[in-house]
Amino acid sequence: LARGDLARDLTGRHVVVSAGGTREPLDPVRFLGNRSSGKQGYALARSAAARGARVTLVSANAALPEPAGVDIVPVGTAVQLREAILKASADADAVVMAAAVADFRPETYATGKIKKRDGQEQPPIALVRNPDILAELAGIAADRPRPGQVVVGFAAETDDVLANGRAKLERKGCDLLVVNEVGERKTFGSEENEAVVLGADGSETPVPYGPKEALADTVWDLVAERLPKNS
Ligand code: CTP
Ligand code: CA
Repeated sequence: LARGDLARDLTGRHVVVSAGGTREPLDPVRFLGNRSSGKQGYALARSAAARGARVTLVSANAALPEPAGVDIVPVGTAVQLREAILKASADADAVVMAAAVADFRPETYATGKIKKRDGQEQPPIALVRNPDILAELAGIAADRPRPGQVVVGFAAETDDVLANGRAKLERKGCDLLVVNEVGERKTFGSEENEAVVLGADGSETPVPYGPKEALADTVWDLVAERLPKNS
């Protein structure tokens, strides 16, 4: 099918996309963060809107223009992202977790700038685990919070990309996992991406190196195939 034939195939659907990367503040001037630009998540939001979906874009620290016709919910931290995603996904047909979520956050937030002491060698920062939002949405197949909702994750891997991706898909319980290989020069901040989309049904869909829009459209193709038929 040519792209045009698929136009508006998400009409009547509500989809939620997370984009960007969380920042976990230590004090008023510092945070733990990552290099996610948000471009892939924004491309997913634009693509879904163009295909007729109502789109909620939960955006973590992405310095990108707001796509037209998309509801944007700005967030900072992983905990805020979780709250926004759970709220928006209550009536969603699909959720795509494209955001890079910090695995850990500082245990405490210092309201004043953290100062080092003379002779102090131990860093003054303790970290605690953040909630795993994707695993919470996906559950294990049987007790998914919202049955029928299609849940998609992203994974950036540097080694054993496919094996790590397959294991991660099973661990998270999601329907689809978009796996891309990252390295020093690959993916972060770039306009292009190359990926393999793994399905819980065993499917593998390679997406050749190309614009993030093309990967976005492939993701929505695979999501659309898995949506329960509109009643
Ligand atoms: N994710 C999430 N909540 C977290 C961490 C990750 O929802 N606390 C989501 C990401 O948005 C992404 C997927 O899980 O869609 C995979 O993220 P990744 O960091 O690759 O997975 P982890 O389970 O954190 O594994 P790793 O130890 O490799 O970082
Ligand atoms: Ca992680």
